[in-house]
Amino acid sequence: MKRPDAIRPPEGKLAVLLPGMGAVSSTFIAGVLLARKGLGLPVGSLTQMGSMRAGGKQVRMNEYLPLARMDQLVFGGWDIFPDSVYDAAIHAKVLEASQLEPVREELEAIRPMKGVFYPQYVKRLHGTHVKEGATKADMVEQVRADIRTFLRDNRCSRAVAVWCGSTETYVAADQVHSSRRAFEAGLQKNDPAITNSQIYAWACLQEGVPFANGSPNLAVDFPAAAELARLHEVALAGKDFKTGQTLMKTVIGPALKARMLGVRGWFSTNILGNRDGEVLDDPESFRSKELTKRGVLDEILDASANPELYGEIFHKVRIEYYPPRGDAKEGWDNIDLFGWMGYPMQMKIDFLCRDSILAAPIVLDLALLLDLAQRGGCIGTQDWLSFYFKSPMTDPGRSPEHDLFVQNMKLKNTLRALMGEKPSCPPGAESYD
Ligand SMILES: NC(=O)c1ccc[n+]([C@@H]2O[C@H](COP(=O)([O-])OP(=O)(O)OC[C@H]3O[C@@H](n4cnc5c(N)ncnc54)[C@H](O)[C@@H]3O)[C@@H](O)[C@H]2O)c1
Repeated sequence: MKRPDAIRPPEGKLAVLLPGMGAVSSTFIAGVLLARKGLGLPVGSLTQMGSMRAGGKQVRMNEYLPLARMDQLVFGGWDIFPDSVYDAAIHAKVLEASQLEPVREELEAIRPMKGVFYPQYVKRLHGTHVKEGATKADMVEQVRADIRTFLRDNRCSRAVAVWCGSTETYVAADQVHSSRRAFEAGLQKNDPAITNSQIYAWACLQEGVPFANGSPNLAVDFPAAAELARLHEVALAGKDFKTGQTLMKTVIGPALKARMLGVRGWFSTNILGNRDGEVLDDPESFRSKELTKRGVLDEILDASANPELYGEIFHKVRIEYYPPRGDAKEGWDNIDLFGWMGYPMQMKIDFLCRDSILAAPIVLDLALLLDLAQRGGCIGTQDWLSFYFKSPMTDPGRSPEHDLFVQNMKLKNTLRALMGEKPSCPPGAESYD
């Protein structure tokens, strides 16, 4: 990361552009509008409620850091259904209809722009509000034009994008993702390895709009995107919001490892009944999610260092679509661990959480912190934002950090360095060991 001499001040309005305006996006937008009116607290948001050590004292992050204020945000985005954000919030049933009433008019006025939708990447949805174009390159141009029009019509000084669209079928990085030139040729030829989320991301990067990826999709996690980000000097972050079960895994996993307790098995299952659950019911979309959810333990427990404790671990992750629960997910974990002389023990975690209630503050923090990074001249992958992701993106050759508390230290340490304070250790070197 580049250490800037000065951070451009957060002047004017910041457009928060959301590809995918479903449960998470509508809960995020409605929550910010309610918080602005003093009708709710932005609980779960580090930037709004958190503090950090700086200048020898404990300071509120939103007083210390030059972040955009919530009343400077303007919301826009794309969806493959034409529902307003109010309709999407009613459909999602996350916030009570009565709670939405004071911000109903504002939510009704936010309508998604037509989406880029090649249906083979999200098989359970049949979008009706979609763009037309002969090639994927045309689609990129249409999204770029949308961004420019939105910024002009809403008199915004800049934008940031957070992908809140559906999880796509699993696509591995391929030859077409290896360089900017190969990717641009692929866009012209409608290469099947280029998915919807990659098209939005490519358009954002070309417009100089920093991009965070809240899903497991490849989106910006490939060398061509990194090359484009460097060329246009844009910040990136990803991937897959860390909200419920994985949040707990990245707390309990490091605790067991710190005590040198062994783990033989870790079975994680979820029931959820929202549209995300319906999309993940397709095995090919589930495959994308499974990979981001599974990778965490391997990295934390590091079987190569302690094969006798973690070499035989059986780790299984399931997600079951169960409509009666709606957005109120149940994440259940059974951990088979062992202690002194190999004696077995069990731990059960039953997290009755609310998916979008946990994700909304992450969208807010990512929008504000990525905008700060961009104004501070940070280019490319922002791995200090790993705190927010199940599968943190890093630059080549660096391993991702999964331990929640090391991630928290890394985030605050980087912010101190960005503000010209003495960091507690060189940014990137944070570790408990
Ligand atoms: N809620 C959580 O706790 C959580 C945690 C981690 C990741 N995520 C991810 O966040 C994303 C959003 O979750 P959600 O619960 O809001 O899902 P959702 O299904 O309610 O919303 C997704 C929206 O994306 C739209 N969409 C799909 N393809 C699109 C395209 N090509 N262009 C524009 N819009 C498109 C859908 O129509 C839908 O409105 C998902 O990928 C999910 O896996 C959510």
